[in-house]
Amino acid sequence: MKKRVLSGIRATGKLHLGNYLGAVKGMLALQDDPGYETLFMVADLHSINSPYDPKTFQESVRSVVIDYLSAGLDPEKSTIFVQSHVPEHIELSYLFSSVLTVARMLHLPTYKDKLKEDAENANMAMLYYPVLMASDILIYKANEVPVGDDQLPHLEISREVARKMNEKFGTNFPEPTQFKTQGHSVPSLTGEGKMSKSVEGSFIALTDELETIRKKLASVPTDSGKGEKVPTEGGVATLLKFVELFMGAEKRQEYENAYVREGIRYSELKNALAESIYKELEPIQNKRKELESSPAFVNQVIKDGAEKAGAIAKETLVEVKEKMGLI
Ligand code: ADP
Ligand code: TRP
Repeated sequence: MKKRVLSGIRATGKLHLGNYLGAVKGMLALQDDPGYETLFMVADLHSINSPYDPKTFQESVRSVVIDYLSAGLDPEKSTIFVQSHVPEHIELSYLFSSVLTVARMLHLPTYKDKLKEDAENANMAMLYYPVLMASDILIYKANEVPVGDDQLPHLEISREVARKMNEKFGTNFPEPTQFKTQGHSVPSLTGEGKMSKSVEGSFIALTDELETIRKKLASVPTDSGKGEKVPTEGGVATLLKFVELFMGAEKRQEYENAYVREGIRYSELKNALAESIYKELEPIQNKRKELESSPAFVNQVIKDGAEKAGAIAKETLVEVKEKMGLI
């Protein structure tokens, strides 16, 4: 039997290079592997735990579907759907919440960070986030989850839920693992932390034009270009990571050698990098334009996706309810 893959991205803004390299590239690799059945969703229910605009929300959801299709997800090979269109995820998540303690949820680094940053908006949906995510994955009995490293604590909860459900109720959930890509942790353009939609100035969007990419790279902080040791953090480390991801490990090595010898000219590096990044994004942007003028096609993808995913989800839900004595 084929192994299953499930992943999702929230509808909280434009997709950026972190999402692309950390998540979407993994989705693409597995979609083309005949050993896997792949399901990819827009995590709309996971997007409403932070302040958002209901009036434009449907556009944001659709935009992620278009990003998926533009990047190469193929509805002939993958099931592409919107999380809330398969309401069984929510029902199963409630059943799962009975095997998780509040204390465990309160200890999650992602929740703790939220509490520190913005305690007033640390709502119940935020605390419940990993429970719903466990349900997203386990309702399809997915084995592999292409996500970036920031999602590892959440994935750990999914594994715990699988174990506990199996122990307590005799279900047969697999313990899902991260499908790790080369860009599993893409650094921020600011040189601090990870690239993120919610941090202004940290990201390059998939829709950015060459000029915008140039400008954004120009603002990455650098040093004199020369030194005894190649920096392992900050803006220079970010640039070298991007060189590795878009121009190859050999090119990175060349720049590293230059750093400890004659020195790096950052204007040259940034220009070459901007071109390489744009070269990868240009076909995605062209495809996006096409899709924007084919609303009927996009609607059909979303509709078919909900049907296919829903059929699997319903089966798992009945199975779990039976095991739990609910039916
Ligand atoms: P963001 O953190 O920018 O709001 P999401 O939470 O919607 O993005 O993340 C969607 C997917 O992209 C997840 O799989 C996440 O792990 C991945 N991802 C996000 N940022 C990065 C990054 N900087 N490096 C690698 N993967 C990332
Ligand atoms: N939590 C993920 C993120 O912020 C999105 C997500 C929701 C997800 N459900 C999922 C990812 C299930 C993988 C599998 O990026």
